[in-house]
Amino acid sequence: MKILVTGGAGFIGSNFVEMALRGDFADISEVVVLDKLTYAGKLENLKFAFGNPSFSFIQGDICDAVVVSKAVEGVDAILNFAAESHVDRSIEDSSEFVRTNILGVQVLLEASLKAGIKRFLQVSTDEVYGTIDTGSWNEAEPLLPNSPYAASKAAADLLVRSYFRTHKLDVVITRCSNNYGPRQYPEKLIPFFVSRLVKGEKVPIYGDGMNVRDWLHVEDHCRGIALVLSRGIAGEIYNIGGGTELTNISLATKLVKLLGLKTGSIEYVADRKGHDLRYSVDWSKIASLGYSPLKEWDVGIAETVESYREALKNG
Ligand SMILES: NC(=O)c1ccc[n+]([C@@H]2O[C@H](COP(=O)([O-])OP(=O)(O)OC[C@H]3O[C@@H](n4cnc5c(N)ncnc54)[C@H](O)[C@@H]3O)[C@@H](O)[C@H]2O)c1
Repeated sequence: MKILVTGGAGFIGSNFVEMALRGDFADISEVVVLDKLTYAGKLENLKFAFGNPSFSFIQGDICDAVVVSKAVEGVDAILNFAAESHVDRSIEDSSEFVRTNILGVQVLLEASLKAGIKRFLQVSTDEVYGTIDTGSWNEAEPLLPNSPYAASKAAADLLVRSYFRTHKLDVVITRCSNNYGPRQYPEKLIPFFVSRLVKGEKVPIYGDGMNVRDWLHVEDHCRGIALVLSRGIAGEIYNIGGGTELTNISLATKLVKLLGLKTGSIEYVADRKGHDLRYSVDWSKIASLGYSPLKEWDVGIAETVESYREALKNG
């Protein structure tokens, strides 16, 4: 199967491409990446791929119908990772979020219809459900996004669903929890905290630090995506969780310990506007396809911290 990976120069997309090219996903034989290379996308993230005859790269915008119509030629499936993905940026200015995360998806869906794409997979987020104090969301929960980022992703999910209902386009949606692993842009919590701690700076914790996130190793997320691509039912949504729920303060404490520092390196700052207290997905639906997270948290976080420490050492 030849796939188009949009946003493949970013954190999760580049990890997916790496796994696909090293043969982790048996049914994927060829990968095309389409990426605009925004501040979050780097060719460096794909350095393992250049020179591989099964790989090609196109620099371009998913909102550009001409570029997209060329990129989809001969492609069996589209996996859309491309997005503006940082909540804090969406609070400052949501315009790019609406453009890329909604209009971009509409352009990809139209191109999929015209080109007869066999499957369109939208990489979404658990943030579309809002916030949940106790229990976990299943895929039938209503969409109650709280940040402009989450709202743009929810809008895209509805658009994707509409192309299934109206046009019978074969679509699947995945909604994952917080990813961690190598190559995440340093504005995101784990690489941001590690880079500050390594430089001897304090790490800022929003509010009281009691916000809870479920951490999912990026390779487990990519395995879940590949499973939904090959075995998911058209028109369905699949939550993908990691099984490690932590408060932000306990995560920060863990990072401090892994770097051999003192807890005095943590400071509390004013809370993020509209900060969701807790996310938690019920992933029993994808488990029934054979998914379970393989990376143990203690191992995954130690490797991740080490990868950032190395990257910082090498400039
Ligand atoms: N990182 C997480 O924890 C997480 C959690 C839930 C869902 N997601 C979703 O997973 C997907 C990938 O997230 P990520 O963390 O890898 O993001 P990222 O910000 O690291 O990468 C996004 C990539 O998309 C590209 N891009 C942005 N706008 C584009 C456009 N208009 N046209 C083409 N390319 C464009 C960027 O250049 C970049 O390479 C996103 O859809 C995000 O909403 C991420």
